Formats: sequence, C-alpha cells, structure tokens
Amino acid sequence: MSATPSCRICGGTLREFFDFGRQPVADAFVTPGEVSNEFFYRLAVAMCATCTMVQLVEGVPRERMFRTDYPYHASGSTDMRSHFQGMAQYFLDNELKEPGSFIVEFGSNDGIMLETVLRAGVRHLGVEPSRNVAEAAAAKDIRVRNAFFEESTAKEVLAADGPAKVIYAANTFSHVDYVDSIFRGVDALLAPDGIFVFEDPYFADIVERTSFDQIYDEHYYFFTVRSVQAMAAQYGFELVDVEHLPVHGGEIRYTVARPAARTPSPEVDRYLELERAAGIAEQPALDRFAANVERLRDELRALLEKCRAEGKSVVGYGATAKSATLTNFCGIGPDLVSYICDNTPAKQGRLSPGSHIPVCSPEEFAASYPDYALLFAWNHADEIMRKESRFQEQGGKWILYVPKVHII
Ligand code: SAH
Ligand code: TMP
Ligand code: ZN
Repeated sequence: MSATPSCRICGGTLREFFDFGRQPVADAFVTPGEVSNEFFYRLAVAMCATCTMVQLVEGVPRERMFRTDYPYHASGSTDMRSHFQGMAQYFLDNELKEPGSFIVEFGSNDGIMLETVLRAGVRHLGVEPSRNVAEAAAAKDIRVRNAFFEESTAKEVLAADGPAKVIYAANTFSHVDYVDSIFRGVDALLAPDGIFVFEDPYFADIVERTSFDQIYDEHYYFFTVRSVQAMAAQYGFELVDVEHLPVHGGEIRYTVARPAARTPSPEVDRYLELERAAGIAEQPALDRFAANVERLRDELRALLEKCRAEGKSVVGYGATAKSATLTNFCGIGPDLVSYICDNTPAKQGRLSPGSHIPVCSPEEFAASYPDYALLFAWNHADEIMRKESRFQEQGGKWILYVPKVHII
C-alpha cells in the first residue's frame, strides 16, 4: 500500500473529499490513431487539515500537460482580451510608471496580457513553456522565454534583466505543484517594493456553484484567501490584497509583497471572515459539495438520455479542458453528445480526451443547428450566446449545468 500523501505545501495531513476516478490529461485532444495510447491518472481532491490548501492527491508530470502543442490559446475570447487589457493598464498606471520598470509574466501563453504592455513600450518578459503559444506571442514582438518559471529560470532572468517591479501569473500559479520553487524564484527576482500578483479559480465559488469541472490535471491547487495567506507567510511573503473577479466562474486575484513593504487592504480580512462564515474549510461543506457533484451528474445524464430517447440532437459547445472531467465523470460520449464545436484550430479534427467526442468548427454548428447545445464553455456564456444568437432565434436551446442543470 502506498503511504497517505501529505500536503504539498506544509506537510500536514490530507483529507480526501472526492475521487473522480481515472481521468485523461484534460488538454490532450487525440487523433483516432492515438486513442489506444491515452494516459490516465487518478483525479482526486483533498484538503490539508493544517493549512486548508485544497489540492490534487496525484499530479500529472508537467511535460505531459505543457508541451510543444499545448492547444489552449487564451486570445480566442474577446471578453478575456478586455479583461487582460484592463489588468495590463492597471499595472502601467500604478506600478510601472518609473522609467525602466520591468514586468515578468509567467504563463503568458499567446501574449494576451503582455501585448498591452508592449504597446506602451514598457520592459517586459513572458515566461512560457508551451512552445507553440510562446511562438504565437513572439510573433507579436512580445519578449518571451520558452521555459517553465521556477527558481533557476527566475535567477537567470534576474541576471539578464535585473529585478522585476511586478511578477504576474493568471491561471498558471495554481497549475504547478512546485510552488516552493516558484516562491524562491519570486524572492530572487522581485524588487524590494515589488508585487507578485496571481489570479486563479476560487475554491469557495467552485463549492457554491458545484462547478466541479474546474477540477482537472492542470488545476493542482484550489486557492482560498486563508490558504494563500498561510502559503505566502510560509515562503516569507505577505498577502496584501484580494479582488474577487467574475471571470472563469469566479476567481480571486491575490497580491503578495515582502513583509511590511505594502499596507494590507481591509479586503483580506473581509474575505477571511466570509470564508469562516461560509465554513468552506469544514468537513460539512466538503460533504455537501460531494453530494451536489453526484446529484448534478445524475441530473445531467438523465436529461441527455431523455433527449436521446426523444430523438433530439445534442452537441457540445466549447471543447474546454473542464469538459474532460465532466464528460468522463458523467459517462458522456458521442452517443449522447454527437460533436463539440470549438474555435481553436488545434482542437478541431481531434477527439476529446477519454470521452472521444469529435471536435469541429463553429461553422459546422451554424451550418445545421442541433436541437440542444450543451455549453461546456459556460464561463464564456455571455460571449458565446451573443455570437451564436441565431441558434436561439432558430429555436435552438442551450443546456447549462452551472450552478445547476437548466435549459435556456
Ligand atoms: N495566462 C493565460 C494562460 C493560462 S493557461 C490566461 O490566463 O488565459 C496556463 C499557461 O501556463 C499555459 O500556457 C502553460 O504552458 C503555462 N505554464 C504552465 N506551467 C508554467 C510554469 N511553471 N511557468 C510558466 N508558465 C507555465
Ligand atoms: P476555457 O473555458 O478554458 O477558457 O476554454 C474555452 C474553450 O471554448 C476554448 O477551447 C475556446 C472555446 N471557445 C469557442 O469555441 N468560442 C468562443 O467564443 C469562446 C469564447 C471560446
Ligand atoms: Zn498544508
């Protein structure tokens, strides 16, 4: 028997609260020839009894996830483009005004945030291990280093470019289990009065909305204000601000700084209190979440089976990484959802990981509308429903499953 795993951050005891069973790598869209060779691992989540950090029990090696053909291109969403333009503008107006100021973003992907910084003529560097998206950013003249951000990379950047006033990461810091190395890197690279800002899905929102499809290989940690405050302190930093964001179904943007370098915002204490009141670090909340996940799976399956029995056509919209957990956990294959349309060329013509639903372009969707479209990209609902208004005008209906199964 293997030893009970302990907390990757503080070494405390892990309490497992949900097991999704064997799951594939969520962004590993396969060709028909690759189906027999898929990699699976056990997807289970646990909370640390000491620091309360929620984390995967078993991780996937990083090179399996972030590779030369990583298919997620952040700039595919216009709403996310404006979100990151706003972030960049905030940094430019508040943190990067001194001549020569330097900002480093890790997980810069196709340059969705840094393009605004580049246009302002401010010194920057993206650190991005997935070569195809790093090249897409470089093609826009963004400075990118094709590497994983960790202690050694941060020290090389410091030697070449000097200290950074801002280090930023969106939907990336929670993707890596080696936060110790990242914090040592931040400690080496960050200017004395600099800030390290990161935004990631908020565990309290996942629990409240039963958005369990946020749980997949790339999301290793599920942060709360309480667990991030403890983690920052453990590595010699202070959590000085939090901001709740509406994107991706609810995220928090955390700002950490060196101790006493910045005055903490009252928002930190306000969120700690909200989390305490909601009991999200307590067993009953985790038990409720587990029961809600199973209920949601049963309701969604029942609805799809009813559609099939009535001869209605159902397709998926948005071949998200999240949909890997949803389809594989709920047992949704091409018999219930005949295809998934997605605007990412790298996903089209392939099959969804594990569930093997064919992925095609949104043009095929528009060419012959189905009766129902299951919105896997529910976090982009406004943008997609705006774009696809003709679908509803022609009588089509959207199926959503967050926060509960419903039809629009
Ligand atoms: N920041 C973008 C992209 C998020 S996807 C957005 O919010 O939309 C996560 C990205 O992090 C991927 O491009 C992946 O290749 C990258 N990544 C994963 N581990 C990393 C690491 N250790 N350092 C830098 N980037 C990393
Ligand atoms: P995400 O939820 O991880 O951001 O992934 C969203 C997926 O949905 C991604 O593969 C791109 C796709 N998508 C579309 O097909 N059309 C759209 O309008 C948007 C916003 C996303
Ligand atoms: Zn812990």
